[in-house]
This record gives sequence, structure tokens and C-alpha cells, in this order.
Amino acid sequence: MENVSMEQLISLCKRRGFIFQGSEIYGGLAGTWDYGPLGSELKRNIQNAWWKMFVTDREDMYGVDAAILMNQNVWKASGHVAGFTDPLVEDLVTKKRYRADHVLEEKNIDPKGMDLEAMSKAIVDNNIKSPDGNAFGEVRTFNMMFQTNIGAIQDETSVSYLRPETAQGMFVNFKNVVDSMHPKLPFGLGQIGKAFRNEIAPRDFVFRSREFEQMEIEYFVKEEDWKGRFSDWIGAMYGWMDFVGIPRSKVHELEVAPEDLAHYSKRTMDFEFDFPFGKKELYGLAYRTNFDLNNHAEASKAGLYVVDDENGGTKVVPHCIEPTFGLDRTILAVLASAYHEEGEGDDKRVVLKLKPTIAPYKVCVSPLLKNKPDLVDKARVVYSGLKKVFGNVTWDDNGNIGKRYRRQDEIGTPYCITVDFDTLENDTVTVRDRDTATQDRVAIADLQPFLAEKFS
Ligand code: GAP
Repeated sequence: MENVSMEQLISLCKRRGFIFQGSEIYGGLAGTWDYGPLGSELKRNIQNAWWKMFVTDREDMYGVDAAILMNQNVWKASGHVAGFTDPLVEDLVTKKRYRADHVLEEKNIDPKGMDLEAMSKAIVDNNIKSPDGNAFGEVRTFNMMFQTNIGAIQDETSVSYLRPETAQGMFVNFKNVVDSMHPKLPFGLGQIGKAFRNEIAPRDFVFRSREFEQMEIEYFVKEEDWKGRFSDWIGAMYGWMDFVGIPRSKVHELEVAPEDLAHYSKRTMDFEFDFPFGKKELYGLAYRTNFDLNNHAEASKAGLYVVDDENGGTKVVPHCIEPTFGLDRTILAVLASAYHEEGEGDDKRVVLKLKPTIAPYKVCVSPLLKNKPDLVDKARVVYSGLKKVFGNVTWDDNGNIGKRYRRQDEIGTPYCITVDFDTLENDTVTVRDRDTATQDRVAIADLQPFLAEKFS
């Protein structure tokens, strides 16, 4: 079975320590999620793989790690104070609030291209009521940034925001990177970090939350090169999806219509994924022109340009291509793609076919029986030897060996090693493959190269 439901995924995530509801023992906090022991390993493996692929393995990329709190003028210049809004509609009786575009979509009315007035009219014309059966008010805008105040005084000057995207942390550090690293065009900045949005209706597990993580790139090019670079990034984004195990057959390209483009974009392509709750945005690729650098240069008076030595030292404000990857949506797509149920009755097993490079545990080591000290001692030696090399190696001596395999299958551990009575005779162990359930007999001395080859 390959089509997993959200209930199955959420249940697995909670049962096996991947993802929990935020603040759960206090009844939860809507739109927040906490990653547990296995979820945080998976998340870290994905972050590290992304950083390696897009920052350290490339000669044209630099990493940054900017502060979440930024000067309020950043968000004025970027257009977020004026325009980072969602359409909101309120139940006139209960005062509960909903996303107006979601309300229309649920009635199979496409809100794309509609302004606030058109949405209000569509709600009235189609006699759409709230889930509690009451009339809706007018559709209005709602700014999604979380506002806070810096320091002891709460006035206009102390206002700041939790960043709603990591991107601006890269634009405002553009000059610092140019002055310190002296890059030549094209070059890019990459960042992984938290972003916060006061979503009116957080939903679909970690798909739409109020606190989430982004992995973003701002890639600076000469204006005349943008089309070619945009195509290059489409290929690079598919390369990433292949690497983490998101099948191309479940990914669909959506060219965003001109009337639906974000305020900064001249072209945006969304990569949609077949999530269990429907086809929805996984990643985006935007051509942001030189909108951000120009706006920040004007507002801050800083010189945000590079000097083009090939053209007599002219000052060039580069244009920007932005590939953006939601980390939590990556995790959801990876889990949904990896989830399989196989067999029937007592032979039924849930198996997470995660790529070994991102699996929370690489290997599980077990003694065949936990009440035989010779087996346990030998297994402990194998375990600590592998842990030193592969890091994420786990130990399991609970229940019978079949149950241990099932438990490891369910969390995606690619290989299970069992120390049995033959081990005591000839220093070999069994290595069981998660996906095929076949077993190889391997000498302990050969285990490291045997596994290293599987993980390469
Ligand atoms: N810098 C551009 C930008 O932030 P976006 O399409 O608003 O563009 C980028 O967000 C990515 O961040 C999305 O493609 C998605 O993967 C992720 N994302 C956006 N809002 C999210 C939310 N509320 N919860 C989880 N992930 C979200």
C-alpha cells in the first residue's frame, strides 16, 4: 500500500517520537509542532544534506545565519508591513476567523485573481455560511507578521517583528558579504532558519504552521542572465528532491499567474506535491528582480551593488533568483513518500523506506537473546565500534528478533545487525536489509566498509 493517510502519518509520528503537538500537556498551541528524538534527527540530517548540496559543495555559494529579530525598517522596505497579508473573513456571530480564499476553495470556487471585494461578493452570491451556519462579514486583509517590542519601552520606535521569511536576512547582509568575501557574479547566499507567520488557519499537520523552518537561497545574477539561471535552479531543485527521496511522479510544476504573483516577483514557479490532503505547494522558485536590493538601498542609503570589472568598473545592482524550500514540508513529503504497508495479517509491516543518508538511525544492533551475557557483550563491542564511525546507531534487545525488525522498519532504520551463536564461533553477524528483508552474513571485520558502501 503506498497511499498513506494523514491519520496514519500523524499517528506514526507521535507513537515513534518524530513529531508532537506543541505544548501538548497544556492542551496544545495551535500551529506549533515539536520534533521529538527521531524527528529532530531526521530534520538535522535533511538540513545538513541541504547545506552540503547547496552551500559547501558549491564554489558560488556562501552561508549566512542572520538574527530573527531585525530593524523594523527592513520589513517596511521589503513591503511586508504594507502587503504581507491574507484575506480574512469573520463569522458575524461567533467572531471566529477564517481564510476567505480557503472558504471559497471549499465550495469549489477558485479565488485566484480575486480582490477583497470580489471575494466578499462571491461569498454573498453563493450564500456561503460559516461552519457554524452563520453569515460572514466583509473580507478584509490581515497582516501575518508577529509583532513584538524590543526593550522596556513599548512605543512605535520599539516595534519589531519575528521574521516571516529568512530571505530578508540575506538581502540586508548583501553588502557585508560583498565587502568581506569579494564574490563575482553569479553568486548566492544560503540560509536555514525559523520563520513565523500568524496564519489565520494553521492546518494539515506541519504543512501550515505558525512557526516553521525555511531553507532559502538568494542567487544574484546579471539581469540578462536570469532566464538561464532560473532554468538551472529548476534542475537543481529536482536534484534535491531526488536526493531526499521525493519522487518526481508526485511533484507538479505550477506557473503562478501574473495576477497571483507576490509583490516582489516577476516569475514564480511552485513545485506542488501530492500530499495526502491534496496537491499543494512544497517549494517555490521566484525571480525577484532587483526589487529587494533596490528597496533596501533606497531605505538604508547603503550601496547595495557589485563592481563589474569586466565593464570598466561599473556598479551593477544584481537581479535575484530565489529557490525556497520549506523544511517542515520537506519532512512531510519525505515521510509520505517513504511510508509503506506490506504483507497481510501477522506478516503485516509498516516500513519507512527513507534514504539511508537521512534516516534517523543508520543501523540497529541486537544480541539474538538478551539473557545470554556472551551474546550481549559481543553485541556491545559491535555496537560501540559502529557508533564511533556512523554516529546514529541504536541498540535494541527488547522482545523477539522479528518484533525488533518490525520496530526498526517502522522508523526507517536501513540495516539491523544481529549477533547470534554463530558470531561466537566465527566472528560473523547477520545484516538485514529493511527494504528487501534479506539477510547477509558479514564478518565483523568487514562491517564498516560493507555499511559505508551502502550509505555512499
Ligand atoms: N522567501 C520567499 C517565501 O518565503 P513563501 O512561498 O511564502 O516564499 C516559502 O514560503 C516556503 O516556505 C514555501 O514554499 C513552504 O515550503 C514554506 N512555508 C510557507 N508558509 C509555511 C507555513 N505556514 N508552514 C510551513 N511551511 C511554510
